[in-house]
Amino acid sequence: MIDIFNNFYKGKRVLVTGHTGFKGSWLSIWLHELGAEVVGVALDPYSERDNFVLSGIGGKIKADIRADIRDGKRMKEIFAEYQPEIVFHLAAQPLVRLSYDIPVETYEANVMGTIHVMEAIRATKSVKVGVMITTDKCYDNCETLKGYVETDPFGGYDPYSSSKGACEVAIQSWRRSFFNPDDYGKKHTVSLASVRAGNVIGGGDWAKDRIIPDCIRALEDGRAIDIRSPKAVRPWEHVLEPLSGYMLLAQKMWNDPTCYCEGWNFGPEAESVSTVWEVATEVIKNYGSGELKDSSDPNAVHEANLLMLNINKAKTRLGWKPRMNMQKCIELVVDWYKRYQTEDVYALCVEEINKFLKN
Ligand SMILES: NC(=O)c1ccc[n+]([C@@H]2O[C@H](COP(=O)([O-])OP(=O)(O)OC[C@H]3O[C@@H](n4cnc5c(N)ncnc54)[C@H](O)[C@@H]3O)[C@@H](O)[C@H]2O)c1
Repeated sequence: MIDIFNNFYKGKRVLVTGHTGFKGSWLSIWLHELGAEVVGVALDPYSERDNFVLSGIGGKIKADIRADIRDGKRMKEIFAEYQPEIVFHLAAQPLVRLSYDIPVETYEANVMGTIHVMEAIRATKSVKVGVMITTDKCYDNCETLKGYVETDPFGGYDPYSSSKGACEVAIQSWRRSFFNPDDYGKKHTVSLASVRAGNVIGGGDWAKDRIIPDCIRALEDGRAIDIRSPKAVRPWEHVLEPLSGYMLLAQKMWNDPTCYCEGWNFGPEAESVSTVWEVATEVIKNYGSGELKDSSDPNAVHEANLLMLNINKAKTRLGWKPRMNMQKCIELVVDWYKRYQTEDVYALCVEEINKFLKN
């Protein structure tokens, strides 16, 4: 495995919430390959063909724990037992459309879950770095062409987006109140940041109402792909792009705890910001077959049409930048879905991480 972090993660105790999910499974594989002692905390995986299940990563990491982040007492017990040094908090209810059906549960998991994780961090002296994953949708979306910068106001129209906006407010409050950089070394030893990625795509995601899983399900069934919001513009990026940003940020925070404890955008370059239709077209091209059907529904629940992130801060201050454009990204994504049924999925993921890092 290529190590762009110069052995930093080797032997580190890293706790990942949401490790059974799409992004969390990739992060756990990457950290495990770098020699970290990974402890995962999440609910059961959704299906037998999730990346978590197929890769078998649960059996390789130090501990694969099923627990609910809404249970604050349990979180503190787990943290006390495993004494993590770095925490990546990804567990959440992450779907916009589902959040209209279960708004209360969405807020409970996303907002109270985040608060319980921060309280567990506060109660566990071993934790030095906390990277809290929110989303690009945490910004008050005014559908403008300009990309959101880290200092833009938080907001959110639907329950999911607003719950993540609320997470950001809570994270900011906990940082000011309990993990204030001015008090570092005197009252606490924690560096806490929040990170916002774009529309993340990659192998092993089967979530409902996400464009890549929707495309693959249709292609595997030999159906035309229904495109609900063909003209919606999103900042598409391969899952490994923001993960590389989160991991780089955690390393920087470890080495300089008061310098990087703030909000960070990890989106794609402007050239990768494209419509749902363009992305689905690229999927078909790489898959080698399939057709698209415009299924725009004028009565559909509200979803943002235009969403872009400004990534200048991560570029200039962290030296991070996206490695792949949209076309390369879709090529790698589709490669996973063409191979997962016949190959060793753990080896496939490691191969894709190495391929990504060579860009
Ligand atoms: N996928 C994207 O496009 C995207 C974009 C921006 C931000 N995000 C954020 O990244 C994170 C991971 O997203 P994902 O796409 O991997 O989602 P996912 O649905 O695949 O995974 C979610 C994970 O959270 C866990 N979880 C959910 N509720 C829980 C609870 N109450 N207690 C414990 N664990 C719980 C699940 O078990 C799963 O492991 C989320 O915070 C999401 O909001 C995702």
